[in-house]
Amino acid sequence: MTKKFIDEKGRGYKGMFVSMPCKYCNVKYVEILLKVSSYTETDYFSKNKFANMMKNVFITGASSGIGKATALYFAKKNWQVAATMRHPENEKELLNYSNIRLFRLDVTQTESIENALNEAIAIFKTIDVLVNNAGYGAVGIFEKANPEQIQRQFDTNVFGLMNVTRLFLPLFRKQKSGTIINISSVGGRITFPVYSVYHATKWAVEGFSESLQYELRPYNIRIKLVEPGAIKTDFYSRSKDVFRKAGLENYTDYEKIAFTNADKFGQKAPGPNTVAKTIYKAALNHSKKLRYPSGTDAKALLTLRKLIPNSWFCALIRRVIEKK
Ligand SMILES: NC(=O)c1ccc[n+]([C@@H]2O[C@H](COP(=O)([O-])OP(=O)(O)OC[C@H]3O[C@@H](n4cnc5c(N)ncnc54)[C@H](OP(=O)(O)O)[C@@H]3O)[C@@H](O)[C@H]2O)c1
Repeated sequence: MTKKFIDEKGRGYKGMFVSMPCKYCNVKYVEILLKVSSYTETDYFSKNKFANMMKNVFITGASSGIGKATALYFAKKNWQVAATMRHPENEKELLNYSNIRLFRLDVTQTESIENALNEAIAIFKTIDVLVNNAGYGAVGIFEKANPEQIQRQFDTNVFGLMNVTRLFLPLFRKQKSGTIINISSVGGRITFPVYSVYHATKWAVEGFSESLQYELRPYNIRIKLVEPGAIKTDFYSRSKDVFRKAGLENYTDYEKIAFTNADKFGQKAPGPNTVAKTIYKAALNHSKKLRYPSGTDAKALLTLRKLIPNSWFCALIRRVIEKK
């Protein structure tokens, strides 16, 4: 079978492989390279011949956590990766991969989305998969939130995601193919205390994506929702925007208990690679499957949500999150 691959120096090759049982170890089949041909360009990005053969993914919020893990995961699978972020000048690790390109993109700035998209198309020619990952949690007691915090949360998690999607659609329709993977959350289908505004954004992403899939199907554009449970990333630290307002002390005890219990999930959680794998699986799945929960707690919680009445489920959440 003929396959393409890239060596660790970023040189592209095309070769003939056969699968055989391994004589020396327990692996059932190994791939033996029979013949190498064609491509030895060091900078294959500049050679469109090779760029056209590889699959391309465009990721928002690739500076940390799930976005960065996804960029690395796809790069290791020999995809070309457009890793976009607000401050590419601070990124070091992703530069070690010759099939990752960095682009400046803030999902709240339309011009930066247009620029990043145009630059990525100029290099890659096509984009197969868009991963709408950029997002964060604006959390805490709702009455303590100021309007700017609520606005910024929706500008990033909802309107930003919609804007990136909107700007990609002409390209995907022209290509007559494309996959849009929206990073929602298990919190896009269930809720926890003190996360009301964040949940509102993720429930919006779920509704938007579920509806959008219908009109895009005739153009062979697929929508996927990846729904992570708790994942150990900067989500629980650097990126978190906590609502603070003096004079609402009555809420303080409740907030403290709820945050302490919710944060425990983050500490025990798996790393972002779990979600990167789910995103990769969703990218390869050309079926109509819409939702991909990711992480063990996500699957368990969503199953429970389906099986028991709403009032029981809320009582369970109270018992876990309000535990003193
Ligand atoms: N971690 C979890 O438990 C969890 C669970 C469910 C869903 N999620 C979702 O997963 C996604 C990624 O979060 P994470 O856990 O990987 O957290 P993270 O490590 O804090 O990553 C968040 C990423 O979003 C970027 N970002 C924030 N605002 C942006 C903007 N305006 N424009 C472009 N990029 C922006 C951040 O960039 P900067 O570096 O510039 O801040 C960062 O790259 C989010 O949508 C989040 O809601 C996370």
